[in-house]
Order: sequence, then C-alpha cells, then structure tokens
Amino acid sequence: MQLFAHRGVSALAPENSSRAFEMALTAQADGIELDVRGVADKAMVIHDEDLQRTTNGSGSVYNLSFSQWQQLDAGDGKPPPVLLDVLAMVAGKSQVNIELKCCSAIKPVMKDIKQAMALYGFEPEQLCLSAFDHHILKAVRCELPSHPVAPLISACPLDYAACAEPLIAQAIHCHVETTNLELVEDAHARGLDVRVYTVTRELDLLRMRTLGVDAVFVDDIHWAQAVLAH
Ligand code: G3P
Ligand code: CA
Repeated sequence: MQLFAHRGVSALAPENSSRAFEMALTAQADGIELDVRGVADKAMVIHDEDLQRTTNGSGSVYNLSFSQWQQLDAGDGKPPPVLLDVLAMVAGKSQVNIELKCCSAIKPVMKDIKQAMALYGFEPEQLCLSAFDHHILKAVRCELPSHPVAPLISACPLDYAACAEPLIAQAIHCHVETTNLELVEDAHARGLDVRVYTVTRELDLLRMRTLGVDAVFVDDIHWAQAVLAH
C-alpha cells in the first residue's frame, strides 16, 4: 500500500508549505498530495479560499496580486508555494497528486504541468489530477489525455465507483469513513486504483491495508511507515 504525504508532511510542518514537501521527499513518500487554487493567473498551493487559517494574511486568496502573495508567510517563513516551484523541487522523485480546488486552477495547472514535463523529468503517470468537482476533471481530461485523473468522493455512492468511467480515470479517491469492501471491489473490477483520505488512526490504516486499497493519504508519513512495518 502506497503512502501519500497529505499536504506534505503536514503533521510536522505547516500544511502545503515548501518545508512540508521537502520533508515528504526526505521521508521517501510514494506520493505528495497538495491543493491548488488559481490566483492572479498562477497555480498557487493553498487549501482554503480564506488566508486566515494557514497564512499570516486574511481575506480571500482571490483578492491578492502576485506581489501581495509573495509577502505572505505560510508558517515556514516563505509564501505558500507556486505549483511549478513544488514540481521543480520534486523533479520526478515522487508522484504528485494535484487537487484542483476550483475552476480558476484549471488553466494555470495545465500550464505548469506542461512546463514541468518539459523541464523536470516527470513521467505523465507521476502527475495525477483530482477534484471533488468532476466537471473540472472532465476539462482536464480533454486537455491532458495522458495524465491520470482521479475523482474525489466523500461518500459511498449507490453505483460505487461508476463516476470514474466517463472521466477515463485511473483511480478513485475515497473518504476513509465511507470506504468499504464493496466500494474497493467495485473500483478494482473497473480497473481503478483506490486511494483513501485522510488516514490518521492506526485502526483505519490497518483496515485500509486489509481491504486492499492501493494508497492512503496521511498527515504523518513517519507514523504510517512505522505502523505498516510491524
Ligand atoms: O485529496 C484528498 C484530500 O486532501 C481531500 O480533502 O479537504 O484534505 O483537501 P481535503
Ligand atoms: Ca487535498
């Protein structure tokens, strides 16, 4: 079972910060998950629309110019990173799951992915795009046919993983509380990987392994590595 560092090693460093991603690389995470919003025509790595929780700023991210963005502190003494800078840091050493939080992320994310593919040594399958808004993934799938996409779901639908099929998705990303054997078996029967967010308890981590899920998102990769080593 693969381990994805959720918002980097967010248990030990500020979430979605450059330091959290450096720690994930040092820990040899199989993948790094991060959240992207389109701000001032750039793909910015930040979870919330509001700046308050994760930076020293306040108000909506969408009111900022790029120079104002560069004045922010994401908790590690640096501004929240631009996607392209994270991809330059990772440079093919890990998978990256880019979660698009809003439509405004689509265009700048496409641009950064194309640039990263040309410059930083990624294979297409290392850069997976996910979103709760499946219409975003439909747009992505048209533009980047060789990159994996993965719809996020937060419940267990009546038709299980069927939403992945029209997207020609490679995986489905499921909530830990609503991931069960029926969902995992349905996804696998459709040829999909199953990745589960966000696993913070030992009993859930072990349950996911027993269910045969392919990857889990964890805030503390060191903790997960230690639990799974036993
Ligand atoms: O991508 C998995 C997970 O990160 C989705 O939820 O709120 O942590 O972005 P959230
Ligand atoms: Ca996320």
